[in-house]
Amino acid sequence: MSVQSDIKRLTVPQLRARKGQEPIVILTAYTTPVARLLDPHVDMLMVGDSLGMVVYGLDSTLGVTLEMMIAHGKAVMRGSQRACVVIDMPFGSYQESPELAFRAAARLLCETGAQAVKLEGGAEMASTIAFLTARGVPVMGHVGLTPQSVHTLGGFRTQGRDDAAARRVLADAEAVAGAGAFAVVVEGTVETLAREITTRIPIPTIGIGASPHCDGQVLVVDDMLGIFNDFTPKFVKRYAELGSRITEAATAYAADVRARKFPGPEHCFGPPPVPPRPPRASHER
Ligand code: KIV
Repeated sequence: MSVQSDIKRLTVPQLRARKGQEPIVILTAYTTPVARLLDPHVDMLMVGDSLGMVVYGLDSTLGVTLEMMIAHGKAVMRGSQRACVVIDMPFGSYQESPELAFRAAARLLCETGAQAVKLEGGAEMASTIAFLTARGVPVMGHVGLTPQSVHTLGGFRTQGRDDAAARRVLADAEAVAGAGAFAVVVEGTVETLAREITTRIPIPTIGIGASPHCDGQVLVVDDMLGIFNDFTPKFVKRYAELGSRITEAATAYAADVRARKFPGPEHCFGPPPVPPRPPRASHER
């Protein structure tokens, strides 16, 4: 028997309507227990293809597959009730043609129950975004630093530093909005550009390494919890140091096991302990 919850998920139109209103709070999530912890505090859980790097230890997001995104999308849906859940389309699942993108997006939405997909790219992806949105697939765009293009960009570099580059990113954001995306992630851009994009386009901008002027913010959860320590970008604020807490816990556990202090009697199964017999009186035989 499944238990129905009274909690309603935030919808894509509700988040779209937050343009210029209360900032939209987003974190990435990849697993059920973490989604359960984050769900009451955020408006959106993003199943980002960053999972390739923070969960699977890949050097970039390029090796992430549709199957991986579906598995983690299902896990996040199981752990959440209130947040709108958006899943990244992995590299190779949408760039080739709008039709291929539709098939991949349909699998992501149907097999996970998530509400929307996110894909990277600007003007060159506009026709694909229009194709998807016209067919009932809510799309979130992603412009600026687009990690799936890491080799074209020559690394994870801040975008829009000169006028020509800034104009290109602005044109990308306008193309994505014009094609029907309901929101757009603006990643790794100079502050003035993020502010201009936010002023110019009619859909919410979600900043990551962009600026406080965006309509919302997203961070990779492992970065902000201090678990992913390979590299901490300047734009990340760590709200916890779980990496060092995990190291302390593992050190204490290893010491206890080596000293035979764990498991203790309270962790063992067996017959109830036999109460000690009272001492015999001297006349008893
Ligand atoms: O892959 C990801 O997690 C993302 C967000 C950080 C925007 O694209």
